[in-house]
Amino acid sequence: MKKLIHKGFMALALSVSILACKSPKTEEDTSTKKETMVSSKDLSTDFHSHANPGEAVITHLDWEAKVDFDKKIISGIARLSIKKTDKAIKLVLDTKGLNIEKVTLGDQEEPAGFTLGEAHEILGSELTIPINEKTKKVNIYYQTSPKAEALQWLDPVQTAGKKHPFLFTQSQAILARSWIPLQDSPGIRFTYTAKVEVPKGLMALMSAENPQKVNEDGIYRFVMPQPIPAYLMALSVGDLTFESLGDRSGVYAEKPVIKKAVYEFGEMENMLAAAEELYGPYQWGRYDLIVLPPSFPFGGMENPRLTFATPTILAGDRSLTSLVAHELAHSWSGNLVTNANWNDFWLNEGFTVYFENRIMEALYGPSYSEMLAQLSQGDLKNEVNDLMNGPHPEDTKLKLNLTGRNPDDGMTAIAYDKGFFFLKTLENKVGREKWDNFLKEYFTENAFKTMTTESFISYMNENLFEKNGIPVDDKLYQNWIYGEGLPKDFPTVKSERFENVDKQLKKWISGSKASSLQTKDWSTHEWLYFIRQLPKDLKIGQMNQLDKAFKFTASGNSEILAAWFIHVIDNHYKAAYPKMEEFLINVGRRKFLVPVYGEMLKEEGGKEMALDIYKKARPNYHFVSSSTLDEMLGYSPN
Ligand code: BES
Ligand code: ZN
Repeated sequence: MKKLIHKGFMALALSVSILACKSPKTEEDTSTKKETMVSSKDLSTDFHSHANPGEAVITHLDWEAKVDFDKKIISGIARLSIKKTDKAIKLVLDTKGLNIEKVTLGDQEEPAGFTLGEAHEILGSELTIPINEKTKKVNIYYQTSPKAEALQWLDPVQTAGKKHPFLFTQSQAILARSWIPLQDSPGIRFTYTAKVEVPKGLMALMSAENPQKVNEDGIYRFVMPQPIPAYLMALSVGDLTFESLGDRSGVYAEKPVIKKAVYEFGEMENMLAAAEELYGPYQWGRYDLIVLPPSFPFGGMENPRLTFATPTILAGDRSLTSLVAHELAHSWSGNLVTNANWNDFWLNEGFTVYFENRIMEALYGPSYSEMLAQLSQGDLKNEVNDLMNGPHPEDTKLKLNLTGRNPDDGMTAIAYDKGFFFLKTLENKVGREKWDNFLKEYFTENAFKTMTTESFISYMNENLFEKNGIPVDDKLYQNWIYGEGLPKDFPTVKSERFENVDKQLKKWISGSKASSLQTKDWSTHEWLYFIRQLPKDLKIGQMNQLDKAFKFTASGNSEILAAWFIHVIDNHYKAAYPKMEEFLINVGRRKFLVPVYGEMLKEEGGKEMALDIYKKARPNYHFVSSSTLDEMLGYSPN
């Protein structure tokens, strides 16, 4: 715990633990009429924010910032426009590790006091600013900490070009507060403008209208006219270049990567068209994507107008672009209709996996989307199994209770894949036509609004079931949303293309040579399924044979590598160790790191191996990944 910092005249006892002072919230649940549902009142207020939107709420941010790569800090002024009640006496913001220099009120910049609360390990410190009747604007002068959790500062060697440094942010779920003082709750939306100064020669991009060229003076201005929640604030600075992909879309990347990226994302305009055809017009102007350096901790992040993506989806054959469909789909599910708080995370991700699947079906047919669905089912079954045998079996419910916990704990396959299968179940129940009409209306009517699980249920009861004369079945909600594990009506998915994979695998297991299997037309997904279905215990001879026939260790496909490394570890296949180590040092994507390091921990002597690699790799990882792995590996940097 950090020491209390008192500044200004309000050095009162405002620094009480946040648990003790829950503030009034704007987004109250109004829908839970049925006793059988959960007592959702507590779960619909945002435990993960200190903000007091019921008293004073931010509506616009005007951000001025200077990015200093030498000191690894951003110096900024956040000018916040607010809306408040007549009786409002304070504005409460979220901060984490920020150094607050001064606060002023209004365009006249009248000096104001402020109090910074005690630093909570997960939530950070609340910044309380006294306001008066006339206050419409609050200006906060501040600096970020070099350790700001959202920010990753990369040295030139960590980039593709090797000549210039790079900076990117990752704000979801509650890290925006580590680089801008805001009301960091998904239920609170604001528009923004920004003026950002970066070293000359570098390009700055945000989740806003973006430049397509380098500005010689290093000063960039941004406008974001659509209101967004804080977790969608994003900034990226580097030696970047832009290529158009069509009327509304394009890609940013470092020069050595741009050509590959342009090829990989060649279907972007078609994806946009398919998405609009399904659930209504794209509401954000342009849709661009930036390929980040490999330390980016996620596959993708749906920052509005500018998806942030890992370079590990550049497979060279467009085989991993369902990730783009996923991030694009968030432009409806998540960015337009937003989960009210992190307990409703499945509303963002489950809908997005469903929508992603439908986009891929529209582009490549059901045989493709069925493969995705079956892989998703495999992930889900493993996750349910792990969670049900762990300390938090209740995390297998769609509606989470993350009070007192890190919202990151909710980022499991439950929100994604159980959410997806629930929506598929609903589709099966009412038929695709009614379902699609309903979803289109859902996204249109609720655009730029916040949704709780309960308000979704109530909206669906009315607009899907009652409207179509279909009886509402509360058991559905009890089982899928408020129940643990997988319900009995879990839909079966069967990919025909995977049936052939099963056949070939059987042949191999019963003694046929790997080189004799019929794998000629297999896509990445068939290979992934094949690798995941391989028996756990294999002989070194078998590993050799597979590798010789199918060149897994030499694969340029990150998904194939990550799946193969599990067997490499299980079977001590040393020939692949150097490649695996290189992968772990270069790639910071948590989804790959956790299973691979995790598998090492299950082996005798594996912890030493994991730590040995981790010590070399850790400086390359973003906080999101290193904090998860520190805990997993029992590693402490000091
Ligand atoms: N919004 C998520 C990433 C995220 C979730 C970041 C929660 C922080 C907290 C993003 O849309 C996502 O789901 N990314 C996946 C992609 C995938 C499921 C196709 C990823 O990064 O692996
Ligand atoms: Zn997502």
